[in-house]
Amino acid sequence: MTNNLTVIVLAAGGGTRMRSKTPKVLHPVCGRSMVGHVLRAVAAVEPERVVAVVGHQREQVAPHVQEHLPDVVLAVQEEQLGTGHAVRIAMEAAGSTSGTVLVAYGDTPLLEGESLRAFVAEHEAAERAVSILSGILQEPFGYGRVVRDADGDVLAIVEEKDATPAQRDIHEINSGILAFDGAFLAEALPRIGNDNVKGEYYLTDTVQLARDAGLTVGAHPLADVLQTEGANDRAQLAELGREMNRRIVTRWMRAGVTVMDPATTWIESDVVLAQDVTILPGTQLLGTTVVGEDAVVGPDTTLEDCEVGVGARVVRTHGQLAVVGDGANVGPFAYLRPGTKLGEGGKIGTFVETKNADLAAGAKVPHLSYVGDAEVGEGTNIGAGTIFANYDGVAKHRTTIGRQARTGSNNTFVAPVTVGDGAGTGAGTVVRRDVPAGALAVSAGPQRNLEGWTLQRRPGTAQAAAAEAAGASTGSPVGTPVGDTAHKTSQGDGTRVGETPSTGAES
Ligand code: UD1
Ligand code: CA
Repeated sequence: MTNNLTVIVLAAGGGTRMRSKTPKVLHPVCGRSMVGHVLRAVAAVEPERVVAVVGHQREQVAPHVQEHLPDVVLAVQEEQLGTGHAVRIAMEAAGSTSGTVLVAYGDTPLLEGESLRAFVAEHEAAERAVSILSGILQEPFGYGRVVRDADGDVLAIVEEKDATPAQRDIHEINSGILAFDGAFLAEALPRIGNDNVKGEYYLTDTVQLARDAGLTVGAHPLADVLQTEGANDRAQLAELGREMNRRIVTRWMRAGVTVMDPATTWIESDVVLAQDVTILPGTQLLGTTVVGEDAVVGPDTTLEDCEVGVGARVVRTHGQLAVVGDGANVGPFAYLRPGTKLGEGGKIGTFVETKNADLAAGAKVPHLSYVGDAEVGEGTNIGAGTIFANYDGVAKHRTTIGRQARTGSNNTFVAPVTVGDGAGTGAGTVVRRDVPAGALAVSAGPQRNLEGWTLQRRPGTAQAAAAEAAGASTGSPVGTPVGDTAHKTSQGDGTRVGETPSTGAES
């Protein structure tokens, strides 16, 4: 292939039918903008230079294009006077007219670099002035038609609006992707007129000009016509998105990934999966998510920019910017927020939310908990229903829990606080002060049973009836603690007769 290839990407059009404040070419398909997909295909051909023609909403389009391709040459087309006009502006910006010039559009997300590479190679081998990447369509309406003579030689491209009824019956269409001899193109562009139905400068008129000059022209149908299909509205955008997803899912299955239900599995284009990964129905793997060998993800799981380790299991989970270690278990019903890091063999279980939480190998938070701004040491088990109270209403604080700690159910860690290695906490502990290594922290008040309370205070209720049926008596006066009396007294804890203790759940 030539070592002097210029690629021109046309992206100046308005995209009115998208009905969007977002420029058409910036709409995403499988996690990447349409023009981002095109630029990736273009970059794969390793061109000498890429010129992007921007116009409509260029304050958004230009920086986006530059982000994808820092070396890009931007050409501004103030008024969209036609593809011929756009390419003329691009050629002026390119500053070079030698070699091969390839023209593509910014709204064809399924385009593949390999197709461009083969097309350019064939164009150059045939030493043509113009090559057309064409397609055979059952319904060619709207496209420019490739007009050939009796020998099959290409004569011209005629636009739909300018075509005769006979030409409209032609099924070979111009995909829009054209390859040129640069010197011919530079010389032909100023000679294109706009005397046509649309009053535009048609790039496609170069075909006729080449023929008139006795130069060679050719067209190649691309079998996979979807590669050159553009999205003009949101319905087409969704169709191309589903098709791209289908292709991505198929590619991963061929690479050794089990996908139980391709129709409900979404894998964005930058996701990376290892061999023998299993993906269960209703799963979306987004952004730069990476999944390791033998991991099982799903069902009904969304992971964005996450890393899942070898042999890990992630079930009915929503995760973003989280790392799940090898052999770890997540879910069902877990919410992994950014900065979550679960070590090897660890567990983030059912109805657990985590954020900025570093859980070391073997650490477990099995049930109904919030872990925010925390470090949990190796092999530590966090009891059910634990809250890491990281926010004091003004600032966020960290909680650090050492290794092999065993914290009780229904704890609150009021950050900033530290729990030492091998420490423990009792059920219902509110940990406000640091717990030394090996200590057991308890903060809940001792329990008192007020015998006969229900029958005295709730007579005539279903609760009282049940108590009575169970043999409860009206007994001693309410307020006399039963059992562990000495301990309670020593804490100065007494309840007066007639006091109603809080029952918690009913408040
Ligand atoms: C064009 C082709 C047609 C082909 C079809 C494939 C011409 C004259 N016609 O028609 O043969 O079958 O594409 O989709 O080339 N653009 C600019 N500046 C302009 C005009 C267009 O940047 O002044 C960009 C648009 O943003 C778009 C692309 O060029 O990405 C094609 O323009 P559009 O007006 O959609 O051309 P079609 O009428 O579809
Ligand atoms: Ca078009």
